[in-house]
Amino acid sequence: MSIEVRGVTHRYGDRVVLRDVTVTLTEQRVGVIGANGSGKSTFARLLNGLVLPSSGSVTVDGRSTRGRSGAEVRRSVGFVFTDPDAQILMPTVAEDVAFGLRDLPRSAVPERVAAALDTFGLAGHADHPAHLLSGGQKQLLALCSVLVTEPKVLVCDEPTTLLDLRNTRHVLKLLAELPQRVVLVTHDLDAVLAMDRVLVFDDGRLVFDGAPGAAVEFYVGLV
Ligand SMILES: Nc1ncnc2c1ncn2[C@@H]1O[C@H](COP(=O)(O)OP(=O)(O)OP(=O)(O)O)[C@@H](O)[C@H]1O
Ligand SMILES: [Mg+2]
Repeated sequence: MSIEVRGVTHRYGDRVVLRDVTVTLTEQRVGVIGANGSGKSTFARLLNGLVLPSSGSVTVDGRSTRGRSGAEVRRSVGFVFTDPDAQILMPTVAEDVAFGLRDLPRSAVPERVAAALDTFGLAGHADHPAHLLSGGQKQLLALCSVLVTEPKVLVCDEPTTLLDLRNTRHVLKLLAELPQRVVLVTHDLDAVLAMDRVLVFDDGRLVFDGAPGAAVEFYVGLV
């Protein structure tokens, strides 16, 4: 499976925030780094159609994020936001995880939810109000609620920014062990060293694309 971004330019109003970005992603682990405002989150949101490009195209497995195939792309590319509160939709932890499974037969849901909560160490919180979880637990819940839907690709936009050291390590370990493809946007330069390929953005341009060590060196050189 591949994600193809072809000739993508994106504007918010008159402001150009991505300029002619072309890249084909086939690796298991792709990191995205760059300065604040360089266009990383915009790029990440393009990958599952949360943002549609002003010009150019994004296709996942040959399906465009635009038009009728968009819904299918959004199902196959899960997205995790920096702020889990933006993503947690239901009152209790178990209900939030079950929400992603609302298209399954009802009888199949409890078992899937229990297994997912167990994987993320949230089994003891199943019936707790989601808004009372700690920041780290909320981030785990957000990840859990996306992954329970079994996306083929997971795009994470700074998933550890709000977390303490322990939860950061926990989330990075979970991401490292996932069978899914992961695209990780981050300011954590240690975390990107574990990726297969790293993209560096600067002022809306893709300015480096290659091995993690060289990418970090390039980014540091820009600063
Ligand atoms: N919805 C929006 N409307 C208008 N401008 C936006 C919107 N979202 C982002 N921008 C602008 O687009 C530019 C790129 O933003 P983006 O969020 O992609 O950057 P980023 O690299 O993720 O930055 P950060 O590291 O701070 O998260 C910024 O100048 C930002 O102000
Ligand atoms: Mg961002």
